[in-house]
This record gives sequence, structure tokens and C-alpha cells, in this order.
Amino acid sequence: MVAPGFVFGLVLPLLLRADSSADVGFRFASYIDNYMVLQKEPAGAVIWGYGVSGATVTVTLCQDQETIMKKVTSVKAHSNSWMVVLDPVKAGGPYEVMAQQILGRKNFTLRIHDVLFGDVWLCSGQSNMQMTVSQIFNATSELSNTAAYQSVRILSVSLSQAQQELEDLAKVDLQWSKPTLENLGHGNFTYMSAVCWLFGRYLHDTLRYPVGLLSSSWAGTPIEAWSSGRSLKACGVPRQGFMPSDLETGPSECSVLWNAMIHPLRNMTLKGVIWYQGESNVNFNRDLYNCTFPALVEDWRQTFHDGSQGQTERFFPFGFVQLSSYLSGATPNGGLPQIRWHQTADFGYVPNLRMPNTFMAVAMDLCDRNSPFGSTHPRDKQTVAYRLHLGARAVAYGAKLTFQGPLPQKIELLGNMGLLNLTYSQPIQVQRHNNKIFEISCCSDHQCKWLPAPMDTFSTQTLALNVKSCHDSLVAVRYAWTTWPCEYKQCPLYHPTSALPAPPFTAFITNQIPGYRSKVAK
Ligand SMILES: *[C@@H]1O[C@H](CO)[C@@H](O)[C@H](O)[C@H]1NC(C)=O
Ligand SMILES: *[C@@H]1O[C@H](CO)[C@@H](O)[C@H](O)[C@H]1NC(C)=O
Ligand SMILES: *[C@@H]1O[C@H](CO)[C@@H](O)[C@H](O)[C@H]1NC(C)=O
Ligand SMILES: *[C@@H]1O[C@H](CO)[C@@H](O)[C@H](O)[C@H]1NC(C)=O
Ligand SMILES: *[C@@H]1O[C@H](CO)[C@@H](O)[C@H](O)[C@H]1NC(C)=O
Ligand SMILES: *[C@@H]1O[C@H](CO)[C@@H](O)[C@H](O)[C@H]1NC(C)=O
Repeated sequence: MVAPGFVFGLVLPLLLRADSSADVGFRFASYIDNYMVLQKEPAGAVIWGYGVSGATVTVTLCQDQETIMKKVTSVKAHSNSWMVVLDPVKAGGPYEVMAQQILGRKNFTLRIHDVLFGDVWLCSGQSNMQMTVSQIFNATSELSNTAAYQSVRILSVSLSQAQQELEDLAKVDLQWSKPTLENLGHGNFTYMSAVCWLFGRYLHDTLRYPVGLLSSSWAGTPIEAWSSGRSLKACGVPRQGFMPSDLETGPSECSVLWNAMIHPLRNMTLKGVIWYQGESNVNFNRDLYNCTFPALVEDWRQTFHDGSQGQTERFFPFGFVQLSSYLSGATPNGGLPQIRWHQTADFGYVPNLRMPNTFMAVAMDLCDRNSPFGSTHPRDKQTVAYRLHLGARAVAYGAKLTFQGPLPQKIELLGNMGLLNLTYSQPIQVQRHNNKIFEISCCSDHQCKWLPAPMDTFSTQTLALNVKSCHDSLVAVRYAWTTWPCEYKQCPLYHPTSALPAPPFTAFITNQIPGYRSKVAK
């Protein structure tokens, strides 16, 4: 046994110079570990890691000591990385994944166990995504409710920023784990996201197969930090846009979180992404958000598709939470209605032409005046996640169900009656009368004013607004266009069976004098 050791003694130091260490250098990517969930069929899961340049790497998938498949690749020069795409695997498990690097006459073997195949979702955003289960309503019972969800696995990426796109994560706070009271209830704004967890849990209730959840969020961060240089350039975002320091709590520099917390994940095969962000843009590049958000969605899609060798769908499902209501001293007149609108690329609904294959959870009626974390952080995350999961079931899984509240399809001015009739896309339930929540833009020669339009009569799918207060030209109508449109679950309009709220909207009334259009609805 002397000879091989001797050979090694000669060969290894040479290799050590190229790589830091042959032994230590051979590893899986930071987020490939025991208990993980890999994306199931029809996609192929990507397994990758680092090794010694030129070495052969064999990846083996085993179940009950039996080899299911083997993939062979070699470690690339320069990047010292290797990557294999597994053949599509049906949902289930557990499996063991083994990677062997053959270098000279020595094998280096890595193993991870209890690996499941299912759907992998990435969850990102700012503090409302970062809030943990211990911070939400009914925390105690939600935290004790994990036994049935042992195949929903969670991972939480550490807070980290970088000036350049990183290939792998600098650190993982919570490595792939089964859900427990400890890792879900770890503290305030640390470890696992409550929205992410609850979303995965609701999905698991219907999918009945494993779900993998990666949470990568940072409180108080604008979209610019999560965007690549490409998307910011496409939207004309100033490179040195400085955020007012009173608003800043997390990093706000362009691309720094994209670089460190998202880009490193791009080679992983994903099912989709959910996103809860926008508060930090209410007063920062707000009017660019209708470009920066659709651009982020597009850029993440392209990057994850390319990074996974085409395994992550090019237009993978992307869900987001439309911002809730909060009281903000810093922004008395909001900007919230505009951001909510911009989150939909100014359509008011998704999916739409600019944001295909997206879904949205409306949250303006989930306000929480008394949240101990400030009204910016409402504690009802169950309803947020529930609404999101309805969107996912419809958009990502093709279920035929209502996932969006009613919006007007037809707007008719019945001038002689002083009524504006809104015909909705779906049945409406008038939960509460509110004579201020609808407003009309009423224009005389050179001036337009928003006036309240009281709710008059309604039927299953139509609502008539009283517009008698406008004696001039009626140009536009809007709904819930305020920072705080209603109290908790008390907005005026819902869909009757799904209890989804009618989203906020602003719309021009056509058949009007054209010259007025440019002056309103800003
Ligand atoms: C090392 O890998 C080679 C090729 O797969 C195999 O033939 C050999 O048995 C392995 N040796 C050990 C010690 O695992
Ligand atoms: C989380 O915040 C709440 C409300 O401010 C506080 O009571 C609690 O002690 C905090 N928990 C931790 C672990 O810091
Ligand atoms: C975005 O919104 C701003 C402000 O309302 C508007 O001026 C601009 O045209 C919109 N841009 C896009 C791309 O929709
Ligand atoms: C990740 O994907 C990109 C794009 O395909 C590729 O250039 C890079 O080498 C991949 N990383 C690894 C570790 O294979
Ligand atoms: C909290 O639990 C109560 C009692 O089960 C329930 O009525 C309420 O809807 C729950 N709240 C949330 C936000 O889930
Ligand atoms: C306008 O709306 C009211 C109340 O929903 C309805 O009774 C009436 O038929 C509508 N009128 C027209 C012309 O659609």
C-alpha cells in the first residue's frame, strides 16, 4: 500500500496549487444537501458542484441501495465546476445522491440522503417575505402543525451582498431541513419565511407530493438590489440612484442582492418563484416599477432557464403579493396605489401581455393597525399565502378555479340617469357599502377633479355608481385608490364563493372628449 500513497504525495501538491485542496475542493454546491427536494418530472434536476479541473465526476441516484441512474461528467477548467442533468424522476423518495470524483487512483465520494423529488419554489422579496411563522397570527398553532408536512422541505439563504455575480451562495442560514418548531419559529425576520412556508403547505395539501422551498429575502430592500444590470439598463434606472437614508434599512445598491442571493441559484431546476416586495419602492423609483418589475420577472426567467440547461421552464410561473395597506408617517399620501398598479404593469390584473404566466394575491384588505412589527408588517400571512396558492394552482398547475377577484369588464355611462354602470367579469358580493371608495374624474375646461361616486344599486354582476355630482365631463373611474382602502377583510367588493377581494383599478371611460385623457388618472 506504499506505492499509491507515494504517487499521491507527488501528484497532490501540484493539484493543490491549481485548486485550494483536492479533498476539500470536491463538493456539492452550497444548496445541495441532505433532505433537499429536487425538481420532479417532466424537468430534469440539475446537480452541480466543484472539483479538481479535468477530473471525472460520476453522479449516481440510488434508492434502497439500488442504482437508479448514473451520469458522468468532468470538472471544467477555470470555473472548477461540474454539472449533470438527471433524467426526469417522478415525485417521491427518499433517494440518495452520490457524487464520485476520480483523481488519479483515488476516489472522493460525496453523499446526500433523504432527497425527495417534487416541486421547488423560490421565495424572495423584502421584510414581508422575511417575516417568520413566529411573527404571524396563531403562531403557536401554526408552529405545532408541522408533523403532516415532513415532505415540505425548507432552506433559507443567508443575507449577503456582492458587487459581482457569484457562482455559489456565500452562506446558507438554514440548510435543507424538515420543518420543525425551531426552524420555523426561529425569531423575528430570520430563517424561514412564513409566506413561503404557508404557500408550500397549502400547495402540498392539494399536490400531495414533496415541495421544496428556498427563501432568499432581505428586509427594507428596493427592487434595484434584486435586479441584474441588464434589467436595470432596460428600464433606464440611474446607476447611482441613492435611496433616501430614512427609508433604507437593507442594501439598496443596484444588483447587490441579485449578485449574491439569486444568481448563485440559477443552475437549480425550479418550478416557480413567489415574490413579496415593493414597499421600499413606494418612494424610490416608483414610476419605474411598471418597468423594473416586469423586467425582473423576464430576466430571472431567462437566467434560470439558461442556468439549468433549459430544465427550468422559460416562462416559469411567477407569483407575487400586491402590497397590503399600512400607515406610514414617511409617506402620508402614499404612493401605495401607484405601486400596487405598477405591480401589474399597469393592467390591474395578471397574467397579462406584459406579464405572462404570473399570478397575484391581492392584500389591500389584510391590514393590521396593531401589528407589533408596525402596520407595514401585517400578521395575517395565512390569507396572503392562501390567495397566492390559488393563483399557483390555476396558473402553474392548470386547475380550473377562481384565483382573482372581480374587475369591471364594461363601463357604461347612463348620463340621463346620472349613473355609471360597471359590469364585472364575475359575480360580485357587496360586503359593505362605502360611498367614497369609488371615485370619478370629473373635468371642466381645464381642470379635472376626483369626486366620490357613491355606490347605488347592484345585481349579481353589475354595480351602478351615482355620478350626479359631476356636471362636466366624466373621464375616468377608479376603485380603492388609497393607501388604506378598508379595514381588515371589510372591503366593499368580493367574489362570493372564493372570498377574493376585487382588486384596485383605474380606468378611462371611453366615448369622452379626447383632450382630457392626458390630464387624469395619474
Ligand atoms: C473508484 O471508482 C472506480 C470507477 O468507478 C471503481 O472502479 C473503483 O472500484 C472505485 N474505487 C473505490 C475504492 O471506490
Ligand atoms: C420579536 O418581536 C416581538 C414584538 O416586538 C418581541 O416581543 C419578541 O421578543 C421578538 N422576538 C425575538 C426573538 O426577538
Ligand atoms: C409607468 O408609469 C409611469 C407613471 O404613471 C408612466 O409615465 C409610464 O409611461 C409607465 N411606463 C410603462 C412602461 O408602462
Ligand atoms: C451554471 O449555468 C451557467 C449557464 O449555463 C454556466 O455558465 C455555469 O457554468 C453553470 N455553473 C455550473 C457550476 O455548471
Ligand atoms: C386564527 O385561528 C382562529 C381560530 O381557529 C381562526 O378563526 C382565524 O381565522 C385564524 N387566523 C388566521 C389569520 O388564520
Ligand atoms: C345598471 O345597473 C343597474 C344596477 O345593477 C341595473 O339594474 C341596470 O339594469 C343597469 N343598466 C344598464 C343599462 O345596464
